[in-house]
Formats: sequence, C-alpha cells, structure tokens
Amino acid sequence: MKKIILTGDRPTGNLHLGHYVGSLKNRVKLQDEGEFDEMYVFIADTQALTDNFNNPKKVRDSVLGVVLDYLSVGLDPSKVTIFIQSMISALPELTMYYMNLVTLARLERNPTVKSEIKQKEFGSSIPVGFLNYPISQTADITAFDATIVPVGDDQLPMLEQAREIVRSFNNIYGETLVEPKAMIPDNEVCRRLPGTDGKAKMSKSLGNCIYLKDDSETVKKKVMSMYTDPNHLRVEDPGNTKDNPVFIYLEALSTDEHFKKYLPEYKNLDELKSHYEKGGLGDVKVKRFLYDVIEDTLRPIREKRKYYEENVDLVYNILKEGSKKANEKANSTLKRVKKAMLIDYFD
Ligand code: TRP
Repeated sequence: MKKIILTGDRPTGNLHLGHYVGSLKNRVKLQDEGEFDEMYVFIADTQALTDNFNNPKKVRDSVLGVVLDYLSVGLDPSKVTIFIQSMISALPELTMYYMNLVTLARLERNPTVKSEIKQKEFGSSIPVGFLNYPISQTADITAFDATIVPVGDDQLPMLEQAREIVRSFNNIYGETLVEPKAMIPDNEVCRRLPGTDGKAKMSKSLGNCIYLKDDSETVKKKVMSMYTDPNHLRVEDPGNTKDNPVFIYLEALSTDEHFKKYLPEYKNLDELKSHYEKGGLGDVKVKRFLYDVIEDTLRPIREKRKYYEENVDLVYNILKEGSKKANEKANSTLKRVKKAMLIDYFD
C-alpha cells in the first residue's frame, strides 16, 4: 500500500507555536525524510466557513496568512502539494454520499464537535453545515487515499469518525476507500500546548497565542508576561514546573544546545526544573531563557516569510498549481466512488 500523508488547517487566523510544535514541525520533518509516496497539505477554507459563514472576509484574508506560515516553516511545494479545499469540487460531492452513512446521534457524540458547540454557544440552533464537518473532513482525507494524517490530539475523534465511514462505505459498496491513521507528536507536551495565560489551549479567540509571524518585541512582551506558578511568589519559594506554561514551552522547544548557548550553568532542562522546584530560581531568568529559545525557533521562519511576502504572486502560483494537482487526484477517487455506488451512468 502507498504511504500518503495529508493534513490541513482552518484559515481563521495565523498559525501559532501550538500549531508549530503540534504539527507543522512534524510535517517538515516528514517532508524532509521523504519516506512517502504523496504528501498533501491544504487550507481548509470550506471547513472554516462552517462556523464563520457570516465572516467570509476573515476566512479569505486568512488563507494567504496560513500559506505564508506553511512556506515560512519550510514546507516545500516541490515535495508537498499545497492547495485550497474549496477549489476541489469533488470534496462536497463525496461529503454528500458519505452523509448517508452517518447518524445524527453519531455526529452529536463527537467530543470535539460537542465542546465546540458549547464554546460557540449554538444551543439548539446548530447549523447543519457545522455538525456535518467531520463528514466533510472524511471526504478531505479519503479523496486523497491518505494513510497518515498528522494532527493535534483534538483531531483524534475526527479520524475515528473517518475510519468508521470508510469501513461502512467499503462494507456496503465494496473495497473502495483507504482507512487513515492519525499521527500525533511523540512528545506529549507538544500535542496540546497551553496558552500564555495558562489556559488549556492556545487559541486565537482567547488571545493567548504566540504567533509564528510575531516580531521579536511582541514575543518578548508575551513571554515576559506569561502566567507561571501563582504560588511562586518569592525567588526562594519552591515552584511548580508541571502546570507551568513556561516550563511546558521549554519542554516542547528547548534542546541541550540551547542550554549550552544561553544558560550554561545548567546542563539541561531537568537541572533547571529541579532548581525551580527546590526554590531559589526566579521566573524572570527562566522567561528570558524561554525568549531566547523561541527567538532561535522563529528567526529562520521570519526570514523565509519575508521572502514570500515580497513574492505574493509566487505564493498564489504555488496554490494554483497545487490545487490543479489535487483536483486530478480527488476526481479520480470520486470516479472510483461513483462506480462503486453504481452511479457512473455514462462511463
Ligand atoms: N479540522 C482541522 C482543524 O481544525 C482541519 C482539517 C480539515 C483537517 N480537514 C482536515 C485536518 C483533514 C486533517 C485532515 O485544524
């Protein structure tokens, strides 16, 4: 069986450090290792519209921002097909057919959808399109015969639902679709990075993100005002590193090299942590180190971004070419699906 990697992001704002450690970094690694047959990364604008249908400008404007994020972290269009979801007309068509295979109760049970419904305060007025998005996501995945889907852990219920739909489809219409597997980061802290305010998740709507496009000054401000251990009042006090976003970010991003370069009095993160836990290590010092680590991460990203920002035509061309390629693939899957469903009248 071919190894086909696919993943995407909703364009509702720029991508942040949570996206970076949770997925983007991994994508670039997969890309550079080159052990796959096909790799697709796409902008999920159709999905973004399911809960932003009354704000099309936000979605439209975010598309370019997200592609710039992709290119600046190092996704390479010569290795990866980058495309826009809404340009692929086979996707809504596949969605329509898969809708027959899923019950309303099953959609309402999806834990990610459930918590989003609560967060968005839909109450009993849930838009059908929104509730339906896990089915549309299954179309995204199966249209490309994806076998591996690198995502954050909030997407695991989507993958479970996709696998169910694939099995159901293949049962009824014969072996047609490929079952995908989720791929989440090995490093547990990378699966869901907390916000700078200590809340469970970095999220644009909570205003607790460090964005990949933030400049140095902005990063410094955000890091220096980060939530830490509220009981660590004086330097001598013993501190908590476990629920402390400053240490969680270090866990996700810092290497022994960073210690050598910026904080040579400690060999590694374990040493720094045990000092903090014992007492005698102030927050400011740890935050300054975190700032250096984040800056090392973001500097090369900013440089690439600058190049692409100055060459927007090139970026649109990448998307156009990618969407063309993606259409060919998705159309051939649609053909296979229609044949299996006996609706291939004129072939
Ligand atoms: N649901 C994903 C998110 O919120 C975006 C997405 C849409 C996706 N379709 C996908 C991810 C298919 C992986 C595979 O970020």
